[in-house]
Amino acid sequence: MVSKVSFSRLRQSIAEEISDIKFLLRSGSGLQIVLKYMKFRRKRRSIERKYKPATKAFVASEIKDLQLSNDWFVGHLPIWMWLFERFDLRSRAGLKALEIGSWEGMSAFFFLKTLPNATLTCVDTWAGSDEHDKEAMSAVEGRFNANLVGHDGRVTKFKGTSYAYFMEKPKDLTFDFIYIDGSHLADDVMIDAVNGFAALKPGGIMVFDDYIWGYYVDANDNPANAVHRFLEMKRGKFELVYLFQQVIIRKTSR
Ligand SMILES: C[S@@+](CC[C@H](N)C(=O)[O-])C[C@H]1O[C@@H](n2cnc3c(N)ncnc32)[C@H](O)[C@@H]1O
Repeated sequence: MVSKVSFSRLRQSIAEEISDIKFLLRSGSGLQIVLKYMKFRRKRRSIERKYKPATKAFVASEIKDLQLSNDWFVGHLPIWMWLFERFDLRSRAGLKALEIGSWEGMSAFFFLKTLPNATLTCVDTWAGSDEHDKEAMSAVEGRFNANLVGHDGRVTKFKGTSYAYFMEKPKDLTFDFIYIDGSHLADDVMIDAVNGFAALKPGGIMVFDDYIWGYYVDANDNPANAVHRFLEMKRGKFELVYLFQQVIIRKTSR
């Protein structure tokens, strides 16, 4: 018999799913994307179950020593662990990664700790996004520096906008992995996506954060709108690896 607690959990989960689907449709998703969302929403449960012990162990042994004012990343650890395993990234020699939006370095720290053969370029203005308290940002940058101190030889810091970074970076510098987590205004997400895709090697992986995030009143301004337009634009040139709170694609051709 279904207990009262599991019935109320089920009801809550259905309500969340309906609310997310409405959000996606308002952001121009179309039906195909909604079906993918429903598929991955279920799949993520088994991924979370499988990687729960490894996530707990990582938090207990590594993250406890970091200087952090908040945490936007631990919830994604099971998916990233699954992703790294699925594409065998741990054993990949000379893996080059780019992160747009590093904040206090938590996602960068996980990346460098978990992929010992990788190098990472971290791009951030350290001036905050629309949703951040600008006053606190110099302390945020200080924490980033302190948190990544043990990885000096493998991390390159670029202080400036992602737009400036892509203008300045050598044209032949390409990446195996790109994480887009900078400005969440749809225009900026679109620019990062287009520039990121051009800088991604065939077979490379690109991750968008905060896909289901409705900070801006106009649905067109939220990241989901840019992600939907971008996926449409690049149709046939990528494999959709995952789509839930983050969207993950693997580039298959230019
Ligand atoms: C959500 S935080 C990144 C969180 C980080 N990836 C993590 O998981 O710990 C977003 C960051 O993007 C930066 N940012 C905002 N607009 C930017 C832009 N146009 N170019 C580069 N970075 C930007 C902000 O300063 C902020 O540190």
